[in-house]
Amino acid sequence: MAKQVGILTSGGDAPGLNAAIRGVGKAAIESYDMHVIGFKNGFRGLMQDRTMELPSDALSNILTLGGTILGTSRDKPHRMPIAGKEQDMTDVILEVYDKHHLDVLVCLGGRGTQKNALRLANKGMNVVTLPKTIDNDIPLTDTTFGFDTALGIATDAIDRLHSTATSHNRVIVVEIMGHRAGWLALGAGLAGGADVILLPEIPYDENAIAETIRARTRKGKHFSIVAVAEGAMSKAEAAEFEVARAAKDNAANKEAKQAARKALYEMDAKHANNTLRLTEKLEALTGLESRLTILGHLQRGGTPSGADRILATCLGTACADLIADKHFGVMVAARGDNAEPVALEEVAKMRKTVPLDHPWISAARHIGVSFGNE
Ligand code: F6P
Repeated sequence: MAKQVGILTSGGDAPGLNAAIRGVGKAAIESYDMHVIGFKNGFRGLMQDRTMELPSDALSNILTLGGTILGTSRDKPHRMPIAGKEQDMTDVILEVYDKHHLDVLVCLGGRGTQKNALRLANKGMNVVTLPKTIDNDIPLTDTTFGFDTALGIATDAIDRLHSTATSHNRVIVVEIMGHRAGWLALGAGLAGGADVILLPEIPYDENAIAETIRARTRKGKHFSIVAVAEGAMSKAEAAEFEVARAAKDNAANKEAKQAARKALYEMDAKHANNTLRLTEKLEALTGLESRLTILGHLQRGGTPSGADRILATCLGTACADLIADKHFGVMVAARGDNAEPVALEEVAKMRKTVPLDHPWISAARHIGVSFGNE
């Protein structure tokens, strides 16, 4: 009997997801005669048994499409809001998996998805994952699909902001996605020639940023571009977050953990307007008119770049090879031009943040870019 392959997309969407679905599906069908079904809207749709057939025809003409034809959600199998209460739906998911006689469940997603897939693998399901996210923060893979497209969009935005910043002699602050990892802000800031780049990995001092801008004015450069990752924060705020995260990690019991998690959610919500506050502060400190542009979900929308299409196709087809070899419990990682399986247990343990000695940071510092901590 043909192998039964289930596939879902989970977490925030990213350009290249459809190319990856197509890569897995077409290779599974054309090369191995497998049968492929999709589950809609991530782990929630899996739990609800919401399926769609994915024959070869359904996989045509999707290579260039943004988003995901399967839909997605941020639901976690073990903490799914049901009737206003978080519930562990892992056993229900296992029933759906058995009902469809799946040989494997392929999960396309970011860091959260890797951890959720591991939970399902630990329940006895055969799982293979692919690394998707514009944040590029998944460990043990060179890169993730979605990142290259978002990098292009954010770079183009900075290019456009340059001409208006110079015309008005303004400071333009541009917020780029990346909550815990600053790859996108760093890459786009470097490619777009930002004067200041602020990352979650490097807590900043507002006075240091203002001094960089004033020094530029003294040199006759009356505009500045400040590229800010959405998770970047001041030194004081970073210290508060560190205390709150330690409280969650070291919570003695379930109640303490829940309370610490709630406190962190509240801090995150308060942080949401941080880039606006920073823009206002910089205007006050430098005396230069300052404006904020938040790129937001523009960075995740639209057509995937050529590089993301190639990456998603190569990882997707390698995924079909692994399924044929019954190689489960792994993420298909990008290593140079190759695709290699890495254990989900290893992936789930880590987050890939920007190392402080990364060559992109050194190159930026060499050409006078400030990271707000000098
Ligand atoms: O996970 C990718 C990402 O785009 C992050 O960069 C961003 O912080 C987050 O998703 C936004 O999530 P949502 O689309 O759920 O608001």
